[in-house]
Amino acid sequence: MYLPSFRVDNQIALVTGAGRGIGRALAVGLAEAGADVALLSRTKEDLEETARLVEKQGRKALVLPTDVTNREDVKRSVEAVVKEWGNIHILVNNAGMNIRSKALEVTDEEWQTIMDTNLKSAFMMSQEVGKVMKEKETKGRIISISSVAGHVALRTGVAYAATKAAMIQMTKVLALEWGQYNINVNSIGPWYFKTPLTEKLLADEKYVSDILAVTPLNRVGELPELVGPVVFLSSEAGSYVSGQTLFVDGGMTIHGF
Ligand SMILES: NC(=O)c1ccc[n+]([C@@H]2O[C@H](COP(=O)([O-])OP(=O)(O)OC[C@H]3O[C@@H](n4cnc5c(N)ncnc54)[C@H](OP(=O)(O)O)[C@@H]3O)[C@@H](O)[C@H]2O)c1
Repeated sequence: MYLPSFRVDNQIALVTGAGRGIGRALAVGLAEAGADVALLSRTKEDLEETARLVEKQGRKALVLPTDVTNREDVKRSVEAVVKEWGNIHILVNNAGMNIRSKALEVTDEEWQTIMDTNLKSAFMMSQEVGKVMKEKETKGRIISISSVAGHVALRTGVAYAATKAAMIQMTKVLALEWGQYNINVNSIGPWYFKTPLTEKLLADEKYVSDILAVTPLNRVGELPELVGPVVFLSSEAGSYVSGQTLFVDGGMTIHGF
């Protein structure tokens, strides 16, 4: 009667940073929910492994080695998806990295690398895919993986925090400009999830106990707990949600004291 679909059957999704960690989980999760998935990162072998996992779900995968900081690469990969599959319905901007230098020690080169990888890439991907969605009158969904570090002050470093905060604001402005084209733009703000990016930190008992002390659910996240929110925002169930950031954080960002 009222329940809309939480599936994305026969939709075409593009996930950046799909070679490992969160991106791999999101790519496979979107395939489980019914989508074919284009997989982007710089490392072909990693993407081929993700592709095998997507295909195990009975969906198609397209392996597109891409440096998402490079405009020509981004354009070429978006064109390849459209050439192969005709459209793009869902874009997940997930590729990201961090260098945890303290503010007084951040070099110009580190700053630029973090900005390009986390922020410029997400903007260029959104722009190139947004053009396709507008032209093809697709009911598009764009979801960027920000971080709680874009909302509260953490020990993750100033450059990383700046990119993730900018992503949240970029989400709002793209939602404002592209709502008229039926494109929903949202972001997700994860707290800690175990991936190659965080595994060293999460192997440190003192660090983990500090994390859990500010996490009402008293545990780090499991990757399927990010897949659910991303599939929701990609599906009919999320059709009236736009410009928002959903914090998937075990309650971490509600803290006062
Ligand atoms: N893990 C967490 O707890 C956590 C929490 C909050 C937010 N996040 C965010 O979630 C996203 C994924 O994190 P993760 O933990 O899954 O990281 P990860 O395990 O290090 O994976 C990062 C992915 O991004 C790709 N990537 C990096 N630079 C790229 C570039 N220039 N061009 C194309 N692909 C690139 C990597 O592939 P290649 O290196 O092969 O290119 C890899 O596939 C990031 O944006 C991160 O900031 C993570």
